[in-house]
Amino acid sequence: MKKTLFIFIAATLTILVASAFFEKEGTAIQTRAALGKKLFSEKILSIDSSVSCASCHIPQFAFADTVAFSVGIKNKLTTRNTPSVLNMKNRPYYFWDGRASTLEDQSLMPIQNPDEMGLPIDEAVKRLNQSKEYRLLFQKIFGQKPDAKNLAAAFSAYEKTLETVDSKFDDWSNNLKNLTAQEERGRQLFVGDKAKCFDCHRMEDFTTDEFKNIGLYNGKELNDAGLFNITNKEADKGKFKTPGLRNVAVTAPYMHNGMFKTLEEVVEYYNNPQKLVSDPINIDESLKEPLGLTTKEKKDLVAFLKTLTDKKYNRK
Ligand code: HEC
Ligand code: HEC
Repeated sequence: MKKTLFIFIAATLTILVASAFFEKEGTAIQTRAALGKKLFSEKILSIDSSVSCASCHIPQFAFADTVAFSVGIKNKLTTRNTPSVLNMKNRPYYFWDGRASTLEDQSLMPIQNPDEMGLPIDEAVKRLNQSKEYRLLFQKIFGQKPDAKNLAAAFSAYEKTLETVDSKFDDWSNNLKNLTAQEERGRQLFVGDKAKCFDCHRMEDFTTDEFKNIGLYNGKELNDAGLFNITNKEADKGKFKTPGLRNVAVTAPYMHNGMFKTLEEVVEYYNNPQKLVSDPINIDESLKEPLGLTTKEKKDLVAFLKTLTDKKYNRK
């Protein structure tokens, strides 16, 4: 008798605590963006419930990954390096080869990608409909059951909140703070004719959003043809979307194939691309000759790149 009473009390308490928890969770999520944030970490959107968007786009690493190729379902590796999903709001297209033109279209692609989450969209939508919590949340926020369209809308709304514009560089632009002498020398190099970084990494997020070939394609061991895979045009061989450089100090390794581990290696590469890749196909005109940067100038450039980190990612 005593035992049954105890079990009864324990069960009642569990239900009370659980419903209080769901109540809190449920009321905290009121907007599309908040729902998108929850979905970004939702593993049921992968076939074996092992990965979520956040497994590869890791929030504390500025929503990028720390390895050259990320691990998806069944320990499969991605074929390209995971980029940051910060500052995506003003981009005209997504992925290294630009194959998605809106964040909505983009967000359903990793769910279905066999190397990433491997789940047909119909199945993803079915799983959300089977969850009481998600049915209620979608009903409250969209006035509809979960479907592919509102799922994509939630992801997109969340990603559009991920703008980072509070770095030391922004303080400098707003006349709130000075750069150190070294950072200022790096800034002048970055925008100047010697290093030419500004030719491609311009505008508020340090990208012109153009496709360029910086020499990392030779059709041999460097065999990802980038934009060419989409357009089939010879001139597009080896072209990739110029990535923005905000928070770049936090998002190593670098490039579409993650081949550089540090910013020092990146700058060393730009200084003389053909020293590392002697037979590039279709390399951009501006990178055909070595830049001739001194050791000090390379350090200055790296110091400047580090001023682009949003304060929330500044670590000791
Ligand atoms: C297994 C790792 C992995 C998972 C899981 C994953 N991504 Fe990605 N993500 C990548 C890789 C790799 C790329 C680059 C692929 C390419 O360009 O071909 C990418 C690219 C992107 C981009 C484009 C960024 C840019 O600079 O153009 C966005 C946005 C994005 N992912 C959002 C998401 C969302 C939303 C989810 C969850 C629904 C998700 N990702 C799940 C690895 C992953
Ligand atoms: C001709 C255009 C162009 C010029 C000039 C240029 N970049 Fe880039 N940058 C790109 C492209 C395109 C990529 C991606 C290439 C790839 O993955 O194959 C890139 C990638 C990078 C990355 C890696 C970002 C990441 O998230 O992986 C860094 C850092 C970078 N550039 C810094 C610089 C610096 C510093 C300079 C000047 C010394 C410079 N870039 C000059 C076009 C350019």
